[in-house]
Amino acid sequence: MRVVRTQVGIVGAGPAGLLLGHLLARAGVESLIVEDRTRDYIEARQRAGVIEHPTAQLLRDIGAGERLDREGIVHGGIYLQYAGERHHLDFRDLCGATVTVYAQTEIVKDLVAARLKAGLPLEFGISGTAVEELTSDRPVLRYTAEDGTPTQVVCDVIAGCDGFHGVSRPSIPGPLRTVQERGYPYSWLGILADVAPSTDELIYAHSERGFALHSLRTPEISRLYLQVPADEPIEAWPDDRIWAELSRRLGVGGWTLHEGPVREKSITPMRSFVSSPMRYGRLFLAGDAAHIVPPTGAKGLNLAMTDVTVLAEALTRWLRDGDASLADGYEQRCLRRIWRATHFSWWMTSMLHRPLDGDPFDIQLQLSQLRHVTSSRAAATALAENYTGVVTA
Ligand code: FAD
Ligand code: DHB
Repeated sequence: MRVVRTQVGIVGAGPAGLLLGHLLARAGVESLIVEDRTRDYIEARQRAGVIEHPTAQLLRDIGAGERLDREGIVHGGIYLQYAGERHHLDFRDLCGATVTVYAQTEIVKDLVAARLKAGLPLEFGISGTAVEELTSDRPVLRYTAEDGTPTQVVCDVIAGCDGFHGVSRPSIPGPLRTVQERGYPYSWLGILADVAPSTDELIYAHSERGFALHSLRTPEISRLYLQVPADEPIEAWPDDRIWAELSRRLGVGGWTLHEGPVREKSITPMRSFVSSPMRYGRLFLAGDAAHIVPPTGAKGLNLAMTDVTVLAEALTRWLRDGDASLADGYEQRCLRRIWRATHFSWWMTSMLHRPLDGDPFDIQLQLSQLRHVTSSRAAATALAENYTGVVTA
């Protein structure tokens, strides 16, 4: 048995855990990060692609924005498409902000490289993670290291950044936990394709056949999504069918969707979920471990980054300066922003996805809302502020 001592034990090397470790190190607080997947796996896993204005600024401010500035693609707006017409929303004009298209996997690569370069502890391929003695002064993070060594990390605080399926949230006693959630009867089928994007900015398309989204990764790689029924098997979607369906849903007169080899495809279910408390004794939850949103608002990654920014400041005050007040107020400080993102993600999802029963009343409400957003400056500005993240929570 190996016994290790650190100030903050961080479970999960996703964006939340890696950024938290980075922020703590800058403030002189020690941490150890453990991840049950391999480095190759987390650096290849396809997820988010849109970075809010404040998140991009944060990455620059902490010295992790060099490649983001070089390779990220700044977008000054999005297209909203409905009833066969494509409308542009100009975020710069509406709220003076932009978003940056830079894959989550690239942020993960940047933060992993920075941590390893600084010689800070980060272990991959661990198993049997458990967080224990959470209400004591010395919570313990237990696991088996990749080489088979049983390990016990004695911490001042444990940060559960282990995503929706992690062990941290279920370690809070069930009777203390409350969950507020909403399910959606559809999923997103996402593809990554080796083909130049057919658009300069993202297209969010409402159509009679269901929602479609054209996003991108680089000038050579496109990322596209289709609304499919929940529990749809991926086998039902050979590449030809995916391209044909994308063409139909995204098609407008005089525009062509370029097709190319599909490098990867997967189906993601959609859910809104907010779990409370975000703290139990000396365990703090951040990011998807505490809440998830449907992807339509492009908010999950950004929300995870906001949580850990608040958490890093709170833990630094506590562990370095002896003042626990920010740690005590952690959940309260996060909740307004979490609920703003939860509302926006639900609203975008409800406005753009085809109701499964095709209820004409619901469809007319969607179309009316889309006409409003694309014709009223006030309504467009509300969307722009939420999407770029400059909104007041
Ligand atoms: P995660 O990224 O899930 O990281 C948790 C880490 O913990 C993982 O590496 C996991 O392997 C590890 N882990 C889990 N259990 C254990 C354990 N027991 N022991 C050790 N390690 C463990 N968000 C946006 O902001 N913009 C977008 O455009 C966007 N698009 C998306 C598109 C799709 C298709 C999907 C699926 C998500 C999208 N999101 C988007 C959401 C975003 O990807 C997540 O919100 C984000 O990954 C949350 O980061 P996290 O660090 O909290 O959790
Ligand atoms: C991407 C994902 C989203 O959820 C979204 O709303 C926009 C873009 C993407 O993966 O590029």
